[in-house]
Amino acid sequence: MEKDMERDNIICDLEEQLKKVITRNDVAQIKALYLGKDGIVTKLSSKMKEIPNEEKKEFGKFLNEIKNEVVEKIEKINKEIEERELNEKLAGDSIDITLPGRKIKRGSLHPMTRIEEQFEDLFVSMGYTVYDGPEIESDENCFQKLNIPKGHPARDAQDTFYLKDEFENFLLRSQTSTAQARAMEENKEKGPIRIVCPGKVYRRDEDATHSHQFMQIEGLVIDENISMADLKGTLELFCKHILGEKTEVRFRPSFFPFTEPSVEVDVTCFKCGGKGCSLCKQTGWIEVLGAGMVHPNVLEMGGYDSKKYQAFAFGTGMDRFAMFKYAIPDIRTIYANDLRFLEEFDRKDVE
Ligand code: PHE
Repeated sequence: MEKDMERDNIICDLEEQLKKVITRNDVAQIKALYLGKDGIVTKLSSKMKEIPNEEKKEFGKFLNEIKNEVVEKIEKINKEIEERELNEKLAGDSIDITLPGRKIKRGSLHPMTRIEEQFEDLFVSMGYTVYDGPEIESDENCFQKLNIPKGHPARDAQDTFYLKDEFENFLLRSQTSTAQARAMEENKEKGPIRIVCPGKVYRRDEDATHSHQFMQIEGLVIDENISMADLKGTLELFCKHILGEKTEVRFRPSFFPFTEPSVEVDVTCFKCGGKGCSLCKQTGWIEVLGAGMVHPNVLEMGGYDSKKYQAFAFGTGMDRFAMFKYAIPDIRTIYANDLRFLEEFDRKDVE
């Protein structure tokens, strides 16, 4: 009876105190008050030695019950506080969905990539294969096999970036016409060929319309019964395809050592539509490419029977087409990697 009362007192007291706690620190203090070194429950246990032996067992039981009850109540309240604190934290950390999101920066295709793809798509649709050649090329493939022997004056305009020492017979290719020599050499059956070879070429040039490095695309078609008419139709078609149906195409006789006859091809100036302006130097025309029927010497050097096969070839600067099509006034901006320029193509609906 007495013990029960004592226990009730202790527990009631504890409950009263626990009602007031706010933090876990408050609970820790109460815990010390009951279970600490000088705590109420601890002190009660020390009474054990005064208890007569026959009652010790029961007193021990009583002590345990009280201790367990105290521990249980303290743990319960600790849990409640923990939960409350977590909920408060979560509420404070809530996401502000009205904040603007972080934009993902979108890239865009470089104008030269766009132009190159347009050329490739067109020619692939006509049954051509895209051929890739190296930028470091032998003197043989760049000149000799194209009917330009050592000392030929046609070298002057292109005789530029040679390698040193034991590689002095190699240079950065000055024209993609190297693909003609390579493709013929690689074709062991010496049968028909239909390729375009896009890629970088290098020359000692540098002004608003010329860069020491620019992009050409070469075309080569070898087959039986190929004539100038095939070349003309092909060139007209691709100039109109890239620059627009209104574009007119003009062929002028010209000279290249590896084609005979040779032509240079002009298109109507797309800035003035042919009336004459500063871009076309008041002529209404702009030169865009060189072409011709492949010289029999070149076919023979490539291992082809020039009596059986004819071929046409053309080469054009793709930068030129990009400049026209996207109204780029200075070729050097194409290679400057200035984001302000490149970002323009993010928005241009070009095709
Ligand atoms: N390779 C010539 C140049 O770079 C262009 C060309 C290619 C001319 C093919 C005729 C045939 O100027």
